[in-house]
Amino acid sequence: MIMLALADLTMTERLARALAPLLQQQDVLELVGEIGAGKTTFTAALARALGATEPVRSPTYTVAHAYGLADGTTLAHLDCYRTRGTLDEAAWGDVEPYFDSGIAVVEWPEPVRAWLTGRRTWQLELRAVSESARIARLQAPDPASARAFLRSWRSSSLT
Ligand SMILES: Nc1ncnc2c1ncn2[C@@H]1O[C@H](COP(=O)(O)OP(=O)(O)OP(=O)(O)O)[C@@H](O)[C@H]1O
Ligand SMILES: [Mg+2]
Repeated sequence: MIMLALADLTMTERLARALAPLLQQQDVLELVGEIGAGKTTFTAALARALGATEPVRSPTYTVAHAYGLADGTTLAHLDCYRTRGTLDEAAWGDVEPYFDSGIAVVEWPEPVRAWLTGRRTWQLELRAVSESARIARLQAPDPASARAFLRSWRSSSLT
């Protein structure tokens, strides 16, 4: 578990830039945290860092949206806030394609977790400690990825 203090939005953007190069095709990134913690804001920064060709908006009313990236791959953004309990097979079938192509970021991931066992999964938890400061807790899929992230974080600049 990696814990980072994000003093303001520029630090959240720095975290997104540090993480972006480590994400692999079909990786899942679970975003955990209360309403307003910054999950969608982080996703937008991650999309920019990955070269998304359109800006991120909250998918709360559409469950999922896929963004095209500069290299031809996709970043899927899902938000399961409105889902209660684990997705049934039909509902999973609707969203499964988002996980089978590109990278998938999921806000409020509990309803899909049972369907994602065995996948390479990162988890980022954001907690607001003031209007602009956040505490981030990052769980990497394996120790080598955690070390690679720390190298990327240390070498990332603030601008
Ligand atoms: N350091 C920071 N990191 C992220 N967001 C921040 C930070 N400082 C301030 N904010 C603000 O906090 C708000 C976070 O809202 P956001 O929609 O990203 O939250 P969320 O976690 O996606 O909420 P929800 O669960 O409702 O989807 C935004 O208005 C953002 O500008
Ligand atoms: Mg959100």
